[in-house]
Amino acid sequence: MSTHYDHIAEQYKRAKLIPWRHHVEQYSLLKLLGGVEGKSVLDLACGEGHYTRMVKALGAARAAGVDISTKMIELAQNSERGNRLGVEYTVADARSIQFPDAFDVVLAAYLLNYARTPDELLAMCQGIARNLKPGGRFVTVNNNPLQRPENFLTTRKYGFVKSADEELRNGTALHYTIFLENETFQFDNYHLDIATHEWALREAGLDGIQWHSLELSPAEASGPNREYWDDFFADPSVILVECRKPPA
Ligand SMILES: C[S@@+](CC[C@H](N)C(=O)[O-])C[C@H]1O[C@@H](n2cnc3c(N)ncnc32)[C@H](O)[C@@H]1O
Repeated sequence: MSTHYDHIAEQYKRAKLIPWRHHVEQYSLLKLLGGVEGKSVLDLACGEGHYTRMVKALGAARAAGVDISTKMIELAQNSERGNRLGVEYTVADARSIQFPDAFDVVLAAYLLNYARTPDELLAMCQGIARNLKPGGRFVTVNNNPLQRPENFLTTRKYGFVKSADEELRNGTALHYTIFLENETFQFDNYHLDIATHEWALREAGLDGIQWHSLELSPAEASGPNREYWDDFFADPSVILVECRKPPA
């Protein structure tokens, strides 16, 4: 299976090292995820396994990563060969994957923003719900549909910007440019509004939907760089979502 990410897999892995990823994205997502000790966790759209490795290291009994990009999964498996944590990786589409045993938690950092239509989003949410145990939790960080386009460029100093060629409506392509030390690369996500996300999650059988703002890590919030982050938090480009599969 080949996807756009096959061509940018190495660059995307390096992009996980830029400061906002650590101090904002990772801090906020892991805080929302909470304790995973002894739990089974499925990481959909796992990429090269950044969060899959992390949840296993945090004590998950089982961690499985799924990505549609062969190259991303190759990188994940290389890491596993280099430092065996016992994470399982599979190349598959999150919309159709079905594991024999359901999971306590499904994580899917930046999966939903690849849906171009409400129906594609619904298929992703059904893939999430299908692989969750009754009472299990879904947690994600994703494009923030509420960010105003006039603020899309304010994140340049954090190493990325997004742009759109038209007024935002369901299906509008969001062009991301990522700036690394000596290189830039691009990929597209798609805008779908909050109501469409809530419709798709509910239609897939998930409830208790909550949207959460990102937070700055305490180390940065109490350090000399506090003000550096103000632009990011004035109108954040990404947002957290959690919900639950109702108990049986
Ligand atoms: C922005 S990357 C995020 C990777 C990882 N979650 C992280 O935070 O490092 C998005 C990933 O979603 C994957 N992806 C997109 N659509 C997918 C689908 N339908 N099923 C599985 N993976 C998908 C891409 O191949 C890519 O690796």
